[in-house]
Order: sequence, then C-alpha cells, then structure tokens
Amino acid sequence: MKMNLLVTGGCGFIGSNFIRYELEKYSSVNIVNLDKLTYAGNSENLLDIQDKYKDRYTFVKGDILNAELVRQIIVENRIDIIINFAAESHVDRSIIDPADFVRTNILGVQTLLEVARQVGIKRFIQISTDEVYGDLPDNGYFKEETPLSPNSPYAASKASADMLVKAYYHTYQLPVIITRCSNNYGPYQFHEKLIPLIIINALQSKMLPIYGDGTNVRDWIHVIDHCRAIDFVIQRGEIGEIYNIGANNERTNIDIAKFILKRLKKPETLIKFAKDRLGHDRRYAINADKIKSQLGWKPVCDFQNSLQETISWYIDNRAWWKI
Ligand SMILES: NC(=O)c1ccc[n+]([C@@H]2O[C@H](COP(=O)([O-])OP(=O)(O)OC[C@H]3O[C@@H](n4cnc5c(N)ncnc54)[C@H](O)[C@@H]3O)[C@@H](O)[C@H]2O)c1
Repeated sequence: MKMNLLVTGGCGFIGSNFIRYELEKYSSVNIVNLDKLTYAGNSENLLDIQDKYKDRYTFVKGDILNAELVRQIIVENRIDIIINFAAESHVDRSIIDPADFVRTNILGVQTLLEVARQVGIKRFIQISTDEVYGDLPDNGYFKEETPLSPNSPYAASKASADMLVKAYYHTYQLPVIITRCSNNYGPYQFHEKLIPLIIINALQSKMLPIYGDGTNVRDWIHVIDHCRAIDFVIQRGEIGEIYNIGANNERTNIDIAKFILKRLKKPETLIKFAKDRLGHDRRYAINADKIKSQLGWKPVCDFQNSLQETISWYIDNRAWWKI
C-alpha cells in the first residue's frame, strides 16, 4: 500500500534508524523528514539514504513549532501519517534548563496536533517514553494503565505531550496512537547517552562517569527492535491506543559499563563514580504484553550480540562520532 509519511526529528538517533528501516522495507513508502538539526540532529546519519532513495526521501530543515511549514509539507506531499520523534531528549540537559523541553516537547507537539486536525491526517503517532511512568521499586513493571508520574523535566514534558495527544483524540477524534518505549541502544546514538558515552570514552581510555553507585536499572532494547515495533503500530495499531515497547533486558548501569570494558579489553579502573543525577529514577521496566499479544510484535535482537555489534559500529565509525 502506498504511504506518505512525515517523520519529524528524523536526523536524530531513533528517527534516522526508523527512516532507513522503512525505506529499505517498503518500496511504496515516501518520507519527508522535518528536523531542526539541533546539536542532537545530524544529517550525516542519512547520507546513504539521501542518495539511494532520492525519489522517495526528502529532507526539510525546520522546526515543528513552525505551523505554516508543517501545513505546507502535509498538503504538498499528501501526507497520510505523522510520526513524531522530534524532541529534546536528554534528561541531564532538562535538569540544567527545561525551557527548550517545554517548547519542543509540549508546544511543538501541540502545533503538530493542531495542524494535523485542521488539515486532516490518517494517523498521528507520538513517540513517547517509559520515563512518563516515573520510578519503580525492585519489582513490578510499567503497564499502559500505570498512572503517569514523571520525575524529570524531560519526563514531565513527554507526559504533558501524551496528555495533549489523548485530548486531541477525545475532543476532536484525531486518529492518534502513542508508543512508550524503554531505553534504546544501537548505531547513530549521540555520545551524551550512556552506552555510546561508555564505548567512546573507553575506546580513548578516558574515565567513564557513572552516576551514584551505578545500580540504577534500565530496560534496554535495540533501536531496530523499536523501529520494527513502530512499523507494527503503523500497520496494525488501533486508533486511540497506547502501546508499551520493551525487550525485557534489565541491566544496572555498572553492569553495562563492565560489559563494554571487558569487550574492549580495558580496565575497570576507568569507571569513575560521579555525584548522582538530581531526582534520579532507580528502575524502569516495561511490560510489553499488549503489543505482543494484540499486534504480534516481538523483539528479535539478542542483547549481548547486539551490544557487541553496537560497540563494533562505534569502532568502525570513528569519523562519525569525532565530527
Ligand atoms: N533514546 C531513547 O532511548 C528513547 C527511548 C524512548 C523514547 N524516546 C523518544 O524517541 C524520540 C527520539 O529520541 P532520540 O533518542 O532519537 O532523540 P535525539 O535527541 O537523538 O533526536 C531528536 C531529533 O529531534 C530533532 N529536533 C529537536 N527539536 C526539534 C524541533 N523543535 N523541530 C524539529 N526537530 C527537532 C533534533 O534535531 C534531533 O534530530 C524522542 O521523542 C524521545 O523522547 C527515546
């Protein structure tokens, strides 16, 4: 089936992997990528795609807060579906200065929703996060019904966006779907995030800063498993629903650091415990039963092999992270 997608934030980590995945999987998909190219966006992430799929892929540099531009893109390209990846995404930055998080993650989403409502769209897919649910004790999992209880300004901005998306569904019947995924790893992730930071510092024998005592737990998923899940949601997802996405890979931060050091044959003395992040959530863990049972998705990437492949990608692509 022919589909015209507007992907916002497609020059970031997950968005660029998603665009590559969709263009390679479907010959009938056309994609417009709207990205502001903040410090986290890198058009080099899609250099191969720009040449290979020049008839089906268009890049537009711009802000999701620019309603006129968004409207023009939707109308001129007969966009069927908006998939919104655009966001300020780094928790530490949100603690230092939340203003941009409010602008892009809340006002930006409202702008997209409003234009989508006025112009008419078949689907609006909001890429949210498990961080909207807050913190977990040592047991239990986030389900779609878990009340939102965000703790960081980043999480609060994403939770606010989810509320707006739901409100546009209930008030205007805008055909929306929300996905909430756990922590991603894989190629093209900017080196402020835990896994690329550890790999890149270790490769250069630099200290690895680990927050607190390193026992905070995150639930890791390979970015391609996330992209496949979003594709399942586009193809089979029910309007108005929320889908959690996760791969049941709970790991402490210190275990991740030790794993990477071992693979790179570097000493554990590189680990340096740093003052804990303010309001640091202890544990995230996703229950993804709904997307598995209702849409038939399941993760396929083995954590240890895929993390090894990710390490190899950063070794083979020094020019990318040294830019
Ligand atoms: N990385 C994760 O582990 C993870 C997990 C779950 C959900 N998410 C969500 O997935 C989405 C993508 O995350 P990511 O890790 O790829 O983020 P990222 O920071 O790598 O990329 C974000 C992209 O959005 C663009 N952008 C920022 N503000 C914009 C604006 N106002 N207008 C247009 N473009 C703008 C940036 O230039 C960048 O290319 C985010 O919404 C994030 O909340 C991320």
